[in-house]
Amino acid sequence: MASLPSPALFCLLFLVLFGATRGARFNQRDSIIRLPPEIQVAEEEEDGAEAGTRWAVLVAGSSGYGNYRHQADVCHAYQLLKNGGLKEENIVVFMYDDIAMDEMNPRPGVIINHPKGEDVYAGVPKDYTGKHVTTENLYAVLLGDKSAVKGGSGKVVNSTSKDRIFLYYSDHGGPGVLGMPNMPYLYAMEFIEVLKKKHAANSYKEMVLYIEACESGSIFEGIMPKDLNIYVTTASNAQESSFGFYCPGMDPSPPPEYITCLGDLYSIAWLEDSETHNLKKETIKDQYQAVKDRTSNFNTYNIGSHVMEYGNTSIRAEKLYLYQGFDPANVNLPPNVLRPDTPVGVVNQRDADLLFLWHMYKNAENGSEKKSRVLKQITETERHRIHLDGSVELIGVLLYGPREGSTLLNAVRAPGLPLVDDWQCLKSMVRVFETHCGSLTQYGMKHMRAFANICNNGISQASMEEACAAACSAHDLTEWHPSIRGYSA
Ligand SMILES: *[C@@H]1O[C@H](CO)[C@@H](O)[C@H](O)[C@H]1NC(C)=O
Ligand SMILES: *[C@@H]1O[C@H](CO)[C@@H](O)[C@H](O)[C@H]1NC(C)=O
Ligand SMILES: *[C@@H]1O[C@H](CO)[C@@H](O)[C@H](O)[C@H]1NC(C)=O
Repeated sequence: MASLPSPALFCLLFLVLFGATRGARFNQRDSIIRLPPEIQVAEEEEDGAEAGTRWAVLVAGSSGYGNYRHQADVCHAYQLLKNGGLKEENIVVFMYDDIAMDEMNPRPGVIINHPKGEDVYAGVPKDYTGKHVTTENLYAVLLGDKSAVKGGSGKVVNSTSKDRIFLYYSDHGGPGVLGMPNMPYLYAMEFIEVLKKKHAANSYKEMVLYIEACESGSIFEGIMPKDLNIYVTTASNAQESSFGFYCPGMDPSPPPEYITCLGDLYSIAWLEDSETHNLKKETIKDQYQAVKDRTSNFNTYNIGSHVMEYGNTSIRAEKLYLYQGFDPANVNLPPNVLRPDTPVGVVNQRDADLLFLWHMYKNAENGSEKKSRVLKQITETERHRIHLDGSVELIGVLLYGPREGSTLLNAVRAPGLPLVDDWQCLKSMVRVFETHCGSLTQYGMKHMRAFANICNNGISQASMEEACAAACSAHDLTEWHPSIRGYSA
């Protein structure tokens, strides 16, 4: 079908041509007056914004090869900040560190975050790894409280009132919670209390948080103050999933020997945006807009999620280099360009682990012991998922009757209202549920809203206890018992 190029195509062509000529001009000029690094630093200090130290806290909240992508994102972020001139002593990394040497890793000792990407693992400091990746240590690190840190390198954010802090987190989440490889999870209100405490200690100038997780908006919705000098963006709103990216079988896909996703949609969007722009020219707002476009699959939202903002939005007028540093190699890159990208394949965070198991199953030799082991794992995982979904639904029926149970448990509060009024109640209800019905797991975090609504409706703990016991007493918890898995609250 022949037709005239659409206005959109013209617009694109214009951008490409204009972008190219502009780039060439910069190059030409730059080849004549390329500044030596010392002079660039002097120029940087002139604008007065640069007086303090840049700190960063990077957190991968999961473990296991099926969650490769979260640690890959965090390693990539480390390399970006390091290239941007942040000092290792000012970057605190939380990662379980079980990916690079996993027997399934086709490139032992190497982690990539892009199908054609280079290693992002080398040089990443092992501040908090394995059992030391905990919510408690994250809080102690943020507060600069060395005495409260348990294990790890002991590195903390020892910041002053002149300093800027960048926090980036990537993992699974659920309404009101962010995952951690060691229990318990991070609960939104406690995290906000830590931020308030840090603010009260007058130990930073401004802070920027980038949070990738399912329902990550719910960590801030209705509870994030605007007067803490903190600006937040999240991968998703309070009631939707976030997405794995560079996943096997998707377009774009990882190299064929990888059976796990290499990254996450929102994380890749900001990381690749930062790498391809001059961060002394690009503002936080420019990046927010670019990441929002890419994460929403170019505003179609047919896949992808709504990138959200919280806290003090005046901060987004600042240039990105104040948080992420500046790599002199990027001086010729534009502040921001619209990317002529086409929509892409992604996988719901909660299904990424099943996708991974399925690839493992498919690749295992027919009739092998491994094949039956993986099959058993898939069966168990599915069985527990069905058990969790079924018991939450049944509890709703027992508490509210068959007509209203599901409606009341799934009710979403109006934007601007917090998930739950009494966060302590939420934690208690989760513990009651897990005691009787087993560990929530990464998948079951999605039911946090049901427990929140049970609190919002004023159900007593005794009634919840009774409903959980009735719903789950006949079920054999085996490996999903919280005595084995730990309580998530
Ligand atoms: C924090 O920084 C101050 C100087 O600003 C220094 O005196 C102190 O020893 C540092 N504390 C830690 C735990 O590194
Ligand atoms: C938000 O940040 C700006 C810029 O730092 C500051 O001037 C303003 O007072 C802050 N707003 C609040 C409510 O704290
Ligand atoms: C296993 O058997 C099926 C059907 O017989 C075949 O299509 C598949 O390629 C085999 N897989 C492997 C890994 O050998």
